[in-house]
Amino acid sequence: MGLFAEITRHKSVERLQAVAGGSRDFRRVLGVWQLTAIGIGAIIGVGIFVLAGQQAAINAGPAVTISFIVAGIGSACAALSYAEFSGMIPVTGSAYTYGYAVLGELLAWIIGWDLILEYALIVAVVAIGWSGYVQALLAQLFGVHLPVWLQGAYDPANPGSGKVFDVISAGISLVIAWMLTIKTEWGARANTVIVVIKVIGVALVIAVGAFYVNPANWHPFVPALAKGANGASHFGWGGVLAASSIVFFACFGYDTLTTAAEESRNPQRDLPRAVLLSLAISMALYLAVSLVLTGMVPYPELNSPAPVDAAFKALHLDWVRGIINIAAVAGLTSVLFAFMLGAARIWFALSRDGLLPRWFSRVHPRYGTPYRPTAILGVFSALVAGFLPINEVAELVNIGTLSAFIVICLAVLVLRVRRPDVPRTFRSPALWLVAPVGMLFSLFLIIGWPWWQGGHLALIGGLKSITIWRFVVWLVIGLLLYFSYGIRHSALARGE
Ligand code: ALA
Repeated sequence: MGLFAEITRHKSVERLQAVAGGSRDFRRVLGVWQLTAIGIGAIIGVGIFVLAGQQAAINAGPAVTISFIVAGIGSACAALSYAEFSGMIPVTGSAYTYGYAVLGELLAWIIGWDLILEYALIVAVVAIGWSGYVQALLAQLFGVHLPVWLQGAYDPANPGSGKVFDVISAGISLVIAWMLTIKTEWGARANTVIVVIKVIGVALVIAVGAFYVNPANWHPFVPALAKGANGASHFGWGGVLAASSIVFFACFGYDTLTTAAEESRNPQRDLPRAVLLSLAISMALYLAVSLVLTGMVPYPELNSPAPVDAAFKALHLDWVRGIINIAAVAGLTSVLFAFMLGAARIWFALSRDGLLPRWFSRVHPRYGTPYRPTAILGVFSALVAGFLPINEVAELVNIGTLSAFIVICLAVLVLRVRRPDVPRTFRSPALWLVAPVGMLFSLFLIIGWPWWQGGHLALIGGLKSITIWRFVVWLVIGLLLYFSYGIRHSALARGE
């Protein structure tokens, strides 16, 4: 077989549909609202509870609301593509599975490899946010403060802080990995309860905060361009767009919904709806929260590990603060579960398909869970969460997700051309516009936006170039692994 044929071999849509239809591993109990709750469970998290406030303070000012709109448009286009896929191929595995069906083995592997890193790092970012809110609660309820060096990671942007290691975020990463080792299914019902608590918390921020908005805090809405201490520029439209590349973190998570495909009563009808509904509800809440927060206090005050807490503290609203902090901790926990489970399942799928050694896909003799990937992911996330600052890690996550979104938008278009005959329970409207816009927005969120500046075209916003390089290194390692292992050992290569 020639090299090109090897790297583009793919699983047929029919083969995947047969797997989905024949799956009896799970009971089919979930309806559209439970699925939507699972989506919201993974979408609303650190993006709104932490990054929104911090980005308002350092990059965008009150215009962080506009940053959310920009990031939301990119994500909505990808969501429409996901929705079309999830109605067509309702199986576990997310973008990796879709890639295998459409673009062939090499690209599928790249997406899978990308998603493992991305999901593990999401766990780290969310654990850091979790730690911020737990520390706020400990301080508020019991007056307890950790020694400074254990409160957070060393941050080169703030070298004098005395922080070294975030012990709480490292600890929670390990606990979640352990919990998923002894039992994978912590229950859709428990998830629904947590999501309701989280949404009540967010609604409370909006409903109470709205009464304390001082419109003077919204002026200027886009603060003037300024140079930061480290020479980086912020504010101005460049700052607003740079912030959109970070708060993009808030706008995904619906991709984990496909992990529930095999437990859904009517996946072909309900998955696409749940993808779109969960994103729409979350985005509406984000816009309201970001307006309220930046209206409550002057934006520089939001530069805190727990910005929502900081805003309510500044206005002495202690009773609401307590409730919101508890809701934030509960709500962030559901994000941790969703992505740790997602990472372990993708790793498991890659190794079951022979692209990584099968050793990883052997389940625990007693608990029946993929414990080896889970343990490795737990330790990895704990180290990252303990030692790295939140924004650096969030950038890496976002470049991974944005790349996957580009591939998904492309794949859905390719499939329309190559397989118009496959029945689609959901067809994205205006796909010929939606998919290219999704790809372009994702690309610009990575590299920056073309902008006419000082008589020439420049790129403003986007992710830091170090992030792009780190991602390239990860991809190169992935390519080396594929050509030294996966290409010969994959199930398709062996004709299984
Ligand atoms: N969207 C999820 C969050 O903001 C990952 O935490």
